[in-house]
Amino acid sequence: MSDIRWIPKTKDAQTERETSERVYQDLSRFAVPPGFRGRPSWFVQLWWIVDALLFRPSPQVMYAWRRSLLRLFGAQVGAGVIIRPSARVTYPWKVSIGDHAWIGDDVTLYSLGQIDIGAHSVISQKSYLCAGDHDHLQPDFAIRGRRICIGAQVWVASDVFVAPGVSIGDGTVVGARSTVVHDLPAGMICIGNPAKAIKRRVMRGV
Ligand SMILES: CC(C)(COP(=O)(O)OP(=O)(O)OC[C@H]1O[C@@H](n2cnc3c(N)ncnc32)[C@H](O)[C@@H]1OP(=O)(O)O)[C@@H](O)C(=O)NCCC(=O)NCCS
Repeated sequence: MSDIRWIPKTKDAQTERETSERVYQDLSRFAVPPGFRGRPSWFVQLWWIVDALLFRPSPQVMYAWRRSLLRLFGAQVGAGVIIRPSARVTYPWKVSIGDHAWIGDDVTLYSLGQIDIGAHSVISQKSYLCAGDHDHLQPDFAIRGRRICIGAQVWVASDVFVAPGVSIGDGTVVGARSTVVHDLPAGMICIGNPAKAIKRRVMRGV
């Protein structure tokens, strides 16, 4: 295939050309470090087959079935956890979900690193918990797992992106379509991109 490169057009073309010719990422040098996935590759493939054939086609009401499949593949899943069939769990053995937590439709738990979700927490539909990334300042584009920790009694509302390495404190609400790139404190309502605490979560009649 031809080597497609960006052609600079501005006055300072020389500087831009030098910049464009620098090596930023050379994917021929990329390799997944040994042990990074936490299980042998056949086991990872087996999970993807089980996910495709037994987890995703399962009727919505079969919550216990999906809890059992996740536990079979090494996840720690508490009592009464509700997980929808359209939720995606990349590596179950790097996930723990506390009692009575809910994982909604089309949620992705991209568990390259550990993802911990506390008891009674809700991850609403289409949210993406991204526990991994690449070191974009290394030419080999090294892959990294970075733990996400969601406390107990947290509500991550619809379509929220949670970045690698982030923690969210107990009882906090993250508003719909927020982007969480920094840790969020406990007991707050947080919104926006980047998500910030705007007020306390003050409960009625407590
Ligand atoms: C975060 C949320 C719970 C806040 O509810 P609330 O405490 O009643 O807050 P308010 O509606 O009074 O909003 C407070 C301010 O934040 C803004 N705001 C609220 N939610 C926001 C969001 N998701 N993104 C950006 N701004 C938001 C409001 O416009 C308001 O701003 P203003 O004071 O300038 O008018 C709610 O807005 C939300 O995102 N709910 C999730 C809905 C959802 O995902 N449902 C499906 C899953 S079951």
